[in-house]
Amino acid sequence: MITVGAGMKHIRVLLLVLASLFALAQPATADPAVVGGSRAPQGAYPWLARLSMGCGGSLITPQVVLTAGHCVSASGPETRIVATFGVVDLESSAAVKVTSTSVYRPSEYTSPAHGYDWALIRLARPVTLPTLSLQPAVVTAGPFRVMGWGAAVEGGPQQRYLLHAQVPYVDDATCGPLYTRYGYPFIPSAMLCAGKVADGGVDTCQGDSGGPMVAPDGNGIPRQVGIVSWGVGCARPGFPGIYTEVAAYVPAIQAAVAHLS
Ligand code: ARG
Repeated sequence: MITVGAGMKHIRVLLLVLASLFALAQPATADPAVVGGSRAPQGAYPWLARLSMGCGGSLITPQVVLTAGHCVSASGPETRIVATFGVVDLESSAAVKVTSTSVYRPSEYTSPAHGYDWALIRLARPVTLPTLSLQPAVVTAGPFRVMGWGAAVEGGPQQRYLLHAQVPYVDDATCGPLYTRYGYPFIPSAMLCAGKVADGGVDTCQGDSGGPMVAPDGNGIPRQVGIVSWGVGCARPGFPGIYTEVAAYVPAIQAAVAHLS
């Protein structure tokens, strides 16, 4: 019995060693990401910002970043936010860092679950990187692409390297009841859902908030359709990720950009 037990233990250790060697040998693209995604290649999302409060954002004009309302405080002067651009590795010396001068958040905003979860950050100087266009029409089909330095697993740490994933579209009629049956509000006109309802496994997560969800336009150019907003946990079956429906706010965003600039 003792020798068999000891033998089993050795086999278990050997299996563990083999399993970790196998894990190390996997290509970077097999890493768990966003949740259930992979390492993004350098340069794929040139308009993407990492914000110092632990959110994402998108450069929508050379001097304005779009993010989530819950990532900033109320409208006004704000010089403490640093936006990092141009790198997948946040510790890279090639990072372009720009501080904020002010923020704009719609006065209707109260919490992500009540809509209006968007905000603008004005940068101290223009950034010479491509900007991301907003999708003005409501989208009813995916898939979408999401990316960020947020947790790669629910409750996990923020990431050093940018992760990305593809998520399927979930229509409001499916998504709404998944949340309202547990008492969460769901506002179809203000929210856009994405994820794998039956299986879970792929989603944005804490720290991805404010980052864009994109879909290619007719010419294959990415357009922003959503802003990472909220959800119950991350990548859970039955709880797709909820994104601010950008199309609902394009006129208001454009008016605010004009006001900020
Ligand atoms: N509110 C989160 C943040 O501050 C984002 C949550 C997104 N959750 C989700 N399951 N997609 O980073």
